[in-house]
Amino acid sequence: MNTTPDPSADPSADPSADPSADPSANPSANPSANPPRADDAQGTGAARTAGAADTTHFGFRDVPVGDKQKLVGEVFSSVAARYDLMNDLMSLGIHRAWKRYFVATAQVKPGDRVLDLAGGTGDIAALLRDRVGDAGELVLGDINGPMLRVGRDRMVDRGQVRGFRYVQCNAQTLPFPDASFDLVTIAFGLRNVTDKPAALAEMLRVLRVGGQARVLEFSRVKADWFRPLYDFHSFQVLPRLGRLFAGDSDSYRYLAESIRKHPPQAELQAMMEAAGFARCSHRSLSGGIVAVHTGYRV
Ligand SMILES: C[S@@+](CC[C@H](N)C(=O)[O-])C[C@H]1O[C@@H](n2cnc3c(N)ncnc32)[C@H](O)[C@@H]1O
Repeated sequence: MNTTPDPSADPSADPSADPSADPSANPSANPSANPPRADDAQGTGAARTAGAADTTHFGFRDVPVGDKQKLVGEVFSSVAARYDLMNDLMSLGIHRAWKRYFVATAQVKPGDRVLDLAGGTGDIAALLRDRVGDAGELVLGDINGPMLRVGRDRMVDRGQVRGFRYVQCNAQTLPFPDASFDLVTIAFGLRNVTDKPAALAEMLRVLRVGGQARVLEFSRVKADWFRPLYDFHSFQVLPRLGRLFAGDSDSYRYLAESIRKHPPQAELQAMMEAAGFARCSHRSLSGGIVAVHTGYRV
């Protein structure tokens, strides 16, 4: 199997171990590979219309489609250094349990090649490492240089070096050959991608037949009684935590807003089916705060 990323597939990708260039600063690096398409066929708020006035959502704001990636890039460049601390504070550590469940229930075995997309600071990749073993390979892909750097440094500090590769890439235009991975994961990343159908199509393309794709993402809370509490936490507590601990309330306001704009459980499953995944299913965790979606390439 050819395991070498093909940079020619995406000039914005930097498959070197040093994620210095930032494709998020250049959202239209390869417009021909990434034509405008509706990322919101499911009615989740991306008010995209034909022509030059195409807009999509960035949190609750409508922004030109071409601007979203840059704005998302600014969010993660701003929070990268405090990202892990903030995750623990915001979720009271529960994100660790969600991630452990996500990885423990993934279809993966020793020796497998795995792509963790939007891998950020590497929580999922670190957990997957135990499952693929020394014979396996883990590619941590993320569009954002600062997030990748924090992830790589954390992994090196823990002595986790062997079997890891870091690729700065856009989930919408992956610089990998067809059928090159046994498992593709994306955790808390799809929400931030401008063109979600394009990212799902790319995940399918790079999976081998029989391979599994998994999405861990915030979703729709089920119990009516819990929603006001959840909204209070999202819109009042998170931005204040962001200001106190990361010096940035706007990024955490974006987080809360982007969660509300993300397709809920059944809609995301329908998007995966529309992208061509087979045997799709989902499971809500913590009352629907997050959901794990699964699909296969057949
Ligand atoms: C909330 S973090 C999730 C990080 C990690 N997966 C985790 O669970 O902690 C979202 C990540 O998605 C990345 N991202 C956003 N848009 C992306 C895109 N189009 N392609 C690849 N990564 C993207 C961001 O740079 C950021 O690192």
